[in-house]
Amino acid sequence: MMEPLHIKTPVLESHPMTKIAGFPVYLKLENVQPVASFKIRGLGNLCQKAMQRGCTHMVCSSGGNAGLAAAYSARKLKIPCTIVVPGTTPMFMVERLREEGATVEICGDSWDDADALAVKLAKQPGYAYIPPFNHPDVWYGVATVIHESAEQLPEKPSVVVVSVGGGGLMSGVLQGMHDVGWADVPLIAMETKGADSFDAAVQAGELVTLDAITSVAKCLGARTVAAKALEWTQDHKIINHVCSDQEAVLACERFADDHRMLVEPACGASLACVYERLFKVWQEQGKLGELKSALVIVCGGNIVSLNALKEWKEKLGLS
Ligand SMILES: Cc1ncc(COP(=O)(O)O)c(C=O)c1O
Repeated sequence: MMEPLHIKTPVLESHPMTKIAGFPVYLKLENVQPVASFKIRGLGNLCQKAMQRGCTHMVCSSGGNAGLAAAYSARKLKIPCTIVVPGTTPMFMVERLREEGATVEICGDSWDDADALAVKLAKQPGYAYIPPFNHPDVWYGVATVIHESAEQLPEKPSVVVVSVGGGGLMSGVLQGMHDVGWADVPLIAMETKGADSFDAAVQAGELVTLDAITSVAKCLGARTVAAKALEWTQDHKIINHVCSDQEAVLACERFADDHRMLVEPACGASLACVYERLFKVWQEQGKLGELKSALVIVCGGNIVSLNALKEWKEKLGLS
């Protein structure tokens, strides 16, 4: 077994959130991972597996946290890599990817365009395609976030909260929950309006491709979720909820004030579950029973700054 590329992150009880919820709220701080998000767990594992299979060049499609995690993993494993990003990727992320030693190709306006080129490039001999969320090796790596939490928490939580983009985080967390005997613990799956491809799939009972991603939580912006995420709705109690961009951004701001840490709106969606007192709403609706504690996966993210928070607030009519 190779040493994993992710670190064991702390679990902290959030005093401000515990006060709001009325029961202990535990935070799994994935924002303190080497590349500031949980993505290193899945991508690190996938890249290690690709290396063990003899790949000599990795190609990943993502201008976000997955791309950065892939570039970081490739550098650590000393394997050259190409990250294909859509033209909408902020320049500072392109620079960050280059700093990790990646070759950056810019293609099209959406992740789908970038992904098509990544798949094509990866057909070259020795190349491996590194998908950002839709792969069992990604879910296996992400599952470690729950394996660790189970050892760190004083008790089995009554509920677990995650954000959903392409569904890699959710699928890995659910796998981990089943590994550690939490199959009976409901999962709360949070998205933002305009990046709600999981909700669309749940409502339709089949995968749905959104026309466009309009949310500021760009990292939740997979136009179609992984089929595995929808499959999980048959095997696990999942409450999915779509919050507004305003709620996600305000949650990031409040979290920064409460805990002095900055996270993306993609993560703010999960935090909004506590700040918007949604547990209570679901209890009143009979969707949740008595809750003794909650575990929130603080998925983190790089695409945020004090200035970005200010701009989102202005754009969303919050200031
Ligand atoms: C910070 C952050 N949170 C959550 C997600 C959603 O993860 P997934 O696409 O695996 O559902 C992403 C995806 O890029 C992300 O970057």
